[in-house]
Amino acid sequence: MKPTMADAIIVSMSNTSQAVLPKIAQERLNRLEARTAKIGVIGLGYVGLPLSLLLSEAGFKVTGFDIDAKKVTDLEASRSYIFRIPATEIQSARQQGFTATVDFAHLSEQDAIIMCVPTPLTEHREPDLSYVENTAKAAAPWIREGQLVVLESTTYPGTTEELMIPVLEAGNTQGLKVQCAGTPSEHGVFYVAFSPEREDPGNVTVARRDIPKVVGGHEAIATELAAVLYEGIFTRSVRVSSTRVAEMTKLLENIYRCVNIALVNELKLLALRMGVDIWEVIDAAATKPFGFHPFYPGPGLGGHCIPIDPFYLSWKAKEYDFNTRFIELAGEVNEGMPAHVVQYIAKGLNQHKKAMNGSRILMLGMAYKKDIDDLRESPSLTVIELLREQGAEVLYNDPYFPTVGRGRHYNLNMTCTPLTNLDQYDCVLIMTDHSDYNYREIVNQSKLVVDSRNATKGIQSAKIVRC
Ligand SMILES: NC(=O)c1ccc[n+]([C@@H]2O[C@H](COP(=O)([O-])OP(=O)(O)OC[C@H]3O[C@@H](n4cnc5c(N)ncnc54)[C@H](O)[C@@H]3O)[C@@H](O)[C@H]2O)c1
Repeated sequence: MKPTMADAIIVSMSNTSQAVLPKIAQERLNRLEARTAKIGVIGLGYVGLPLSLLLSEAGFKVTGFDIDAKKVTDLEASRSYIFRIPATEIQSARQQGFTATVDFAHLSEQDAIIMCVPTPLTEHREPDLSYVENTAKAAAPWIREGQLVVLESTTYPGTTEELMIPVLEAGNTQGLKVQCAGTPSEHGVFYVAFSPEREDPGNVTVARRDIPKVVGGHEAIATELAAVLYEGIFTRSVRVSSTRVAEMTKLLENIYRCVNIALVNELKLLALRMGVDIWEVIDAAATKPFGFHPFYPGPGLGGHCIPIDPFYLSWKAKEYDFNTRFIELAGEVNEGMPAHVVQYIAKGLNQHKKAMNGSRILMLGMAYKKDIDDLRESPSLTVIELLREQGAEVLYNDPYFPTVGRGRHYNLNMTCTPLTNLDQYDCVLIMTDHSDYNYREIVNQSKLVVDSRNATKGIQSAKIVRC
């Protein structure tokens, strides 16, 4: 007996070869499997640009969309604006047909659209979903029947269903609706899924394609389409039952990291008082073959994810009269770390009979972690502010930042200081343990080194203050 459309939706989507899909979905699926599909990526930043290049390398015809005309101009001229992406990769992608545009009308030509736009916090530390909302509004008029729309931006469970889908439906001039479970349709629908980005910038131990891609559709067809799309560039995709599960998976991963970092940060404060080397303790504990995963203390959290994402969940939890106590406590401990670093600089200066006020401090590392060119939410920015408040003169060196201008929360207007004549500074402060630095040389040349990263591990010197 010929399967009905309802049967088609119910059929197990994990076995696509046997599943009977509506024709509009089947056509998309075939193109995705054959990698002849056209893919639009909206938001060409740290997530969207590498993703576009991966898709292009796999043979997909990729169009990148951004409201930042400068990024589009750079890409059209095969220039890179992300340190770890060489221009040659953009040139290769362009030879594969990769283009970039600010014109959202071209979205209508795509088989699938992936959104990778920012999800920061507002001044009041609440989720700022304006980028997701604005992108959905701009995309809505160009959505076409059978298209797949995937959100990758990190956010709280419910964003895709409660915010993105209503905006896409309301702004769609063709009156298209998202495909829902149990409402089989051959016409008038598009498909929606959520799939979090799990990249760890600067981590070279795992190839990006070997990080499994979690995919949750609004219903089963969307899950399948998105999973097949990502299987074109990732070794494995992990299908989950809903967009909410996929959204919360990413938050769990980042909260787990945030809470564990807070734990070691707090234990570091205790270990310092006890005269115990916390890094040695962690290394010893990490030899246990099960039940322990090492996390390392530092001068505070940074980046677009760990300091921000947990608060997306704690905000949403309030809707359910629920307090996420671990998240709040971890936030409190981690946010106190820059002040702890400043306290240890004062301690170090004091040992040299110097006051903070009027001292010259060279900060090594602006980036929030080693070997990357990203200073979003970097604790270095907070430490500069705190030191200046106390009258110190702060200079910086970072091979990844020739200059530091204006950001969402700072306006520094600073230029990278060469790493010479280190004895002219009252204190050299290690904030980021970039691999490029020769720490032994730095200690030799400096009067006082305050090390917030254990970068001077193994170097014995009375000049070093570890904090
Ligand atoms: N950077 C990371 O390592 C990382 C890792 C995992 C997850 N994420 C998440 O991925 C998302 C994107 O982060 P990112 O680091 O790539 O941000 P980003 O700021 O580097 O890039 C975002 C891009 O989106 C563009 N944009 C903003 N509004 C737009 C609009 N309305 N239409 C088109 N383009 C628009 C911006 O111009 C920018 O180029 C965030 O939700 C972030 O939390 C980031």
